Amino acid sequence: MSTILDGKKIAEMRLELLKEKIEEQGLYPRLATVIAGSDPASQMYVLMKHKACERVGIGSVGIELSGETPTQGVLDAVNRLNRDPDINGILVQLPLPRQVETKRVVEAVRPEKDVDGYHPVSLGLLFSGEPRFAPCTPKGIMTLLSEYRIVTEGARAVVIGRSIDVGRPMSALLTNADATVTVCHSRTKNLAEETRRADILISAIGRAHFVTADMVKPGAVVIDVGINQLDGKLVGDVDFAHVKEIASFITPVPGGVGPMTIATLMENTCTAAEEQACRTV
Ligand code: GUN
Repeated sequence: MSTILDGKKIAEMRLELLKEKIEEQGLYPRLATVIAGSDPASQMYVLMKHKACERVGIGSVGIELSGETPTQGVLDAVNRLNRDPDINGILVQLPLPRQVETKRVVEAVRPEKDVDGYHPVSLGLLFSGEPRFAPCTPKGIMTLLSEYRIVTEGARAVVIGRSIDVGRPMSALLTNADATVTVCHSRTKNLAEETRRADILISAIGRAHFVTADMVKPGAVVIDVGINQLDGKLVGDVDFAHVKEIASFITPVPGGVGPMTIATLMENTCTAAEEQACRTV
């Protein structure tokens, strides 16, 4: 039977600490979000981010573009925010509509305001071992591990998924924290053989109940990044009911990684404001 890694509780705690810090320092960080189109899930995520801003004392501005906006229209919005001295952090909600060249948009965000951590400069810094803004989901997972005093040094970590927003930056963060990291993906041979070696197993593959109990080493720490629909219910990548019986620690879905992502975005935005304030004095 495992201990539940309560992301909701830890995120609440971190947000409360951040609120106090913002008040004490007399900062007024500001985040701008850009959303194109009316995808209900994206709209809900953006709304949750604005609510978190309000809660901790971060100002927020939401730019809403039509789903037909061409690449240049999104670039124009990002460039206006880049130039706006009152905006400290910029988040372009992904996925963007099909006609928009996502790579160009991500690369247009000024690295100093890249609180999402997706810009090549941010990722380069992260992989060089000197991160500025790390992507919020993997960074939030590192915070969760550290809050529960889970030791990464020397641990064998296996990450399932090699996306630019989770799998790859997760591998860099774990490497920077002295874990021995293996990244698995759709072409990995004998996946279960790899996952069974993991002291820390992180799944970001986006397939409901993909990670079954026979793929997990007894006593492993299991982190579930997946958000999938199964029979009208929200479930993770991990077969929680069975895996929780053998893992030492496990994140639930919902209430595990998700809240940590938002709390980390708030922390990154605050860091951006602090760094920009330093540069203008
Ligand atoms: N879409 C889903 N999650 C995220 C996120 O954390 N950041 C951005 N920009 N888009 C997302």
